[in-house]
Amino acid sequence: MMSLFKDAVSVSHWWLQTYLTQGMVAVDATAGNGYDTVFLAGRVGPTGRVYAFDIQEEALRETRARITEQGLADRVELIHAGHERLLEYVNEPINAMVFNLGYRPRGDKRVITRPETTIEALKGGMTLLVSGGLILLTVYTGHPGGEEEWTSLRQFLVRLPKEKWQVVKLKFLNRPEKAPFNIGIQKYG
Ligand SMILES: C[S@@+](CC[C@H](N)C(=O)[O-])C[C@H]1O[C@@H](n2cnc3c(N)ncnc32)[C@H](O)[C@@H]1O
Repeated sequence: MMSLFKDAVSVSHWWLQTYLTQGMVAVDATAGNGYDTVFLAGRVGPTGRVYAFDIQEEALRETRARITEQGLADRVELIHAGHERLLEYVNEPINAMVFNLGYRPRGDKRVITRPETTIEALKGGMTLLVSGGLILLTVYTGHPGGEEEWTSLRQFLVRLPKEKWQVVKLKFLNRPEKAPFNIGIQKYG
């Protein structure tokens, strides 16, 4: 049986799967250990492109190893820079953007995503996003700094005009209050 709601990352991939097809362009805002980059690169195929950002050399090394192992490196551009600098590095319309916030599992837990830079990256992604395009965020509030990031992010998201942006939150009701949850944003009009 296919489990649609196994965890927040599965939900994010499931939503993306309904939309992303061969030839599309996607951004992984937080490459981390490379799992989302592999997923995106598989969906967009050899004619598509994935831009993957991370501020940690080690994260990019992990991601490079994973995409190379899967034979997906030809369509992925790894960028050693903060995602808040998206518009300096990406000069084409994008179909999707993924954020997996917080710290890198098995990595340095002190290196976390931060409210100002996350929101700046989100603004950049929203500028490049095509009509119908998706932005997915997996949000964590259980680590120091996580709750503050979500508070700022929420303030930004609730103000987006509903005529242009559909913004949803999907939260597990029968898991701990601080379990990761999903934010989905679709641009229309
Ligand atoms: C939860 S991990 C990402 C997991 C990853 N998507 C995966 O599939 O393994 C969060 C990552 O965000 C990165 N990060 C933190 N601040 C960042 C920034 N300003 N720009 C880009 N990446 C950042 C961290 O270095 C960390 O690797």
